[in-house]
Amino acid sequence: MQDLEPVRANYLAKVAAAANEAAIEALRVATLGKKGEISLMMRELGKMSPDERQRAGPRLNALRDEINAAIVARKAALSDAALTERLKAEWLDVTLPASPAAKGTIHPVSQVTDEVIAIFADLGFAVAEGPQIETDWYNFDALNIPPEHPARQEHDTFFMARAAGDDRPPHVLRTHTSPVQIRYMAEHGVPCRIIAPGRVYRCDYDQTHTPMFHQVEGLAIDRDISMANLKWVLVEFCRAFFEVEGVELRFRASHFPFTEPSAEVDIRCSWAGGQLKIGEGDDWMEILGSGMVHPKVLAAAGVDPMVYQGFAFGMGIDRIAMLKYGIPDLRAFFDSDLRWLRHYGFAALDIPSIHAGVSA
Ligand code: PHE
Repeated sequence: MQDLEPVRANYLAKVAAAANEAAIEALRVATLGKKGEISLMMRELGKMSPDERQRAGPRLNALRDEINAAIVARKAALSDAALTERLKAEWLDVTLPASPAAKGTIHPVSQVTDEVIAIFADLGFAVAEGPQIETDWYNFDALNIPPEHPARQEHDTFFMARAAGDDRPPHVLRTHTSPVQIRYMAEHGVPCRIIAPGRVYRCDYDQTHTPMFHQVEGLAIDRDISMANLKWVLVEFCRAFFEVEGVELRFRASHFPFTEPSAEVDIRCSWAGGQLKIGEGDDWMEILGSGMVHPKVLAAAGVDPMVYQGFAFGMGIDRIAMLKYGIPDLRAFFDSDLRWLRHYGFAALDIPSIHAGVSA
């Protein structure tokens, strides 16, 4: 039998020199694989005499085991080294600040609308909606504003274009949320207690007017609803909304074709030091129009005015948002200026609650 020492030395040296896992695997195949040198030598054992085999067998077995052990150890060392390399390369500093995610804000109009809905829901008012494109019947006639009535001019109405030759009266962009009164009563009947927030349109533009703005209509009809109920509801609303216990409202006699009697409502405030404070001072700020729903309006909606009566009001959502959050210019509401939105917008988790417009 040949001298095994050179074979052993040769392979152990190669194993030690193998630079990666592929090289060590090639060595395994060359030595211990089916046609590997050592495997072939072991196959020769069968051809030997028993005597020879007895001497060569253990030596070959020992050689095979030694080389196998060397391969296994080298393989483990190489894969450890590879892992260490990878861990070094893929090292991650978990203490670094996260890269900032783009964050949107809730627009003050959305926030205030939700606040208004939360407060009126607690007072038993459901939310109703109507279309922004109205017929002039819902926007005017049914609200006791006949075609020749001067109030039509006061509303600075946007009229929709009609196709040439179509001489039906044009649709309008609703100038107020009051048409929802008619639609709601005609569809659901009375008694009812609803608010109707939404967009309205008038051709007007300055610091406190934009061609599109937001109103919330209120309507409560039953057999015995009076002006006193109107007053209580509005005071309760303002107390909750402005978060001022001593809120003070002034009901000023006014005129709307769709209410009789009518009142505009002002809130006591102070502008001392250029800062607006609600509930103190000697100034009054108009926030809404209101009154007892006119019998003709009830009749137009199919409600018997001899049996039912109630109040309605229309409040500017943008207006009360400006007041509550000290926003000086209405036009900025609709400029989509991200700096403005970040400053005046609300975090998504500022969920409106009834007591404080915004939960703590
Ligand atoms: N619709 C009126 C407006 O837009 C407000 C209002 C609503 C007044 C309901 C009285 C009753 O100015």
